[in-house]
Amino acid sequence: MRKIICPDYDEVCTAAADIFALQLKQKQDSVFGLATGSTPVGLYEEIIRRCETGEMDFSQAKAFNLDEYYPIEKNHPQSYKAFMDLHLFNKVKFAGTQIPNGEADDPHAECARYDAAIETAGGIDLQLLGIGINGHIGFNEPADVYPVGSHLTSLTESTLIANSRFFSEGETQPTTALTMGIGPIFKAKHILLLITGSAKAEVAKKLFDGKLYTDVPACFLLLHPNVTVIMDEAANSGRKE
Ligand code: GLP
Repeated sequence: MRKIICPDYDEVCTAAADIFALQLKQKQDSVFGLATGSTPVGLYEEIIRRCETGEMDFSQAKAFNLDEYYPIEKNHPQSYKAFMDLHLFNKVKFAGTQIPNGEADDPHAECARYDAAIETAGGIDLQLLGIGINGHIGFNEPADVYPVGSHLTSLTESTLIANSRFFSEGETQPTTALTMGIGPIFKAKHILLLITGSAKAEVAKKLFDGKLYTDVPACFLLLHPNVTVIMDEAANSGRKE
């Protein structure tokens, strides 16, 4: 696990965009695994900026997102489909984008279809990840037993509270979601984990103290051969922003 510490959030986004650029340079038709949450928003802004100046071009690349609430309508403002359209896909042209279908009749069949679609695309070259304050990646929540493949999952109270900030009063917040499993995430050739802000300092510390905490799903990444973690100083030291 390579650890890169940047002074602040903006520099994390620049460093992450550089890794995306390098991936594209090596393979124009790369398959990217993308994430939602507030952490990657600055990276997506930087990608849009570089696409506008012609420094980056995703027109041959494909993208698979990590997760989606379930059930949720695609045009619900808090769906991850709507999030990705707003923050990236409406402005950057990809050869293809996929997000687990929050409207699917059969969530289990949808997860099997999603894993098969990733395989058919040749697997993920670069997987972007954020991390929950409880250590979740995608929506793989702390558990005794982890489904390997993509699956329907119940969100923990900590995640529901953390993500409630995105839902306005009166809006129903889904308590279940479809998520890529640890298995498909692990098949990515390179994993890029972004950790920013002092709220993530505690979980970041656990990730780097040389132990595999089974109740911190991100710790599975310690076993992957090619992971880059980019952190800001707030996440690295717990310094208040
Ligand atoms: C959500 C997403 C995760 C994301 C996490 C952290 O629950 N499912 O993929 O990494 O939240 O979000 P944030 O970046 O807003 O802290």
